[in-house]
Amino acid sequence: TGRFTYDPGFTSTAACFSDITFIDGDKGELLYRGYPIDQLAKQSHFLEVCYLLLYGELPTAQQLEDFENRVTSHTMLHEQMVNFYRGFRRDAHPMAVVCGVVGAMSAFYHDSTDINDAWQREVATVRLIAKVPTICAWAYKYAIGQPFVYPRNDLDYASNFLHMCFAVPCEDYVVDPILSRAMDRIFTLHADHEQNASTSTVRLAGSSHANPFACIAAGVACLWGPAHGGANQACLEMLREIGTPDRIPEFIARAKDKNDPFRLMGFGHRVYKNFDPRAKVMKESADEVLGLLGVEDNPALQVAKELEKIALEDEYFISKKLYPNVDFYSGIILDAMGFPTSMFTPIFALARTVGWIAQWKEMIEDPVQKIGRPRQLYTGATARDYVEVEGR
Ligand code: CMC
Repeated sequence: TGRFTYDPGFTSTAACFSDITFIDGDKGELLYRGYPIDQLAKQSHFLEVCYLLLYGELPTAQQLEDFENRVTSHTMLHEQMVNFYRGFRRDAHPMAVVCGVVGAMSAFYHDSTDINDAWQREVATVRLIAKVPTICAWAYKYAIGQPFVYPRNDLDYASNFLHMCFAVPCEDYVVDPILSRAMDRIFTLHADHEQNASTSTVRLAGSSHANPFACIAAGVACLWGPAHGGANQACLEMLREIGTPDRIPEFIARAKDKNDPFRLMGFGHRVYKNFDPRAKVMKESADEVLGLLGVEDNPALQVAKELEKIALEDEYFISKKLYPNVDFYSGIILDAMGFPTSMFTPIFALARTVGWIAQWKEMIEDPVQKIGRPRQLYTGATARDYVEVEGR
């Protein structure tokens, strides 16, 4: 194999040093800057977690207030971006729209694109965290044909997002604090996850010193796939297709059949060979939220719990160390909140934006940063002479 190590899927290649997120896949442990994910999900809140991921420490009260003020002063989109939305078909998947509009930020905010200027990097960071909820909410409003709702800076981050998604001009809409808390927790659980496919994409795009907004759009594109962030949509669709617990064995058998491409969505992980700690919190949250909303008999939740139980006792899943991942229960909560399945992955993208930008910043600020440039093991034809078309 020559001078290069063959490592498809980068299962054993570390591409960087990072101080941000730690995963112990065997123990099922996830730490943001050293703090366990369950403590942050239950005791902290998303903007505080954003501060922690970006700057390395939990903020003081004053630092948090300043950060929140900076984020809320950037929640509006340039008004001309409305025209950008109108160019899409209404039946476009919202991820297509989010990917396009995040990329289009590179055409609007020229004063935050000099990556060698620390202040401009900071402004790009805050702009992305502030605007991505507006971008996602407007993708939803556009899809359902309702008018765009402008951000409300008197609301907290999660409540403002819910307001932009669900308020309509003709009615009063008050954000339910149960939903707002659950939304905030979902954001925290998805905020970062070290060098996953989309984060690696952002780092690779950023390694060429490309425009930061374009780099984040690359992350959105990668997240869309059903093996990654798209699994939350695919998982709820699968739970609905299963429909009732008596059909679970049929789907388990399909997941085990090597001739059937079907996989149990929301199950398995490259790094976790034990419970995904995010899934544990998500499951508790699903019980809590559906209970508080009085919809605990939700059929998808019943199927999910039974499916989890059966899979965890099945030899195939035990031997391959396949456990529920973050996407297994999140869709059930988002569905109970009123989101269509097509919005699940945009919500993941919204939450992961802070992780992407924190990792991008860490890379740009690393003195040994180099352009990402994997090599290959060439398996094609050896050198040969061009043949004119008549001679082929
Ligand atoms: N259902 C059935 N079999 C599975 C599953 C599954 N969900 N996941 C893995 N396997 C089997 C797979 O067939 C393979 O078997 P064998 O060794 O006999 O060929 C073995 O387990 C290892 O799988 P792999 O595809 O080599 O593992 P990977 O680390 O490359 O893939 C994964 C990880 C997450 C892509 C995969 O587990 C999967 O496709 N899961 C379903 C999709 C999903 O839930 N994705 C969300 C991941 S967590 C959040 C995120 O990243 O966004």
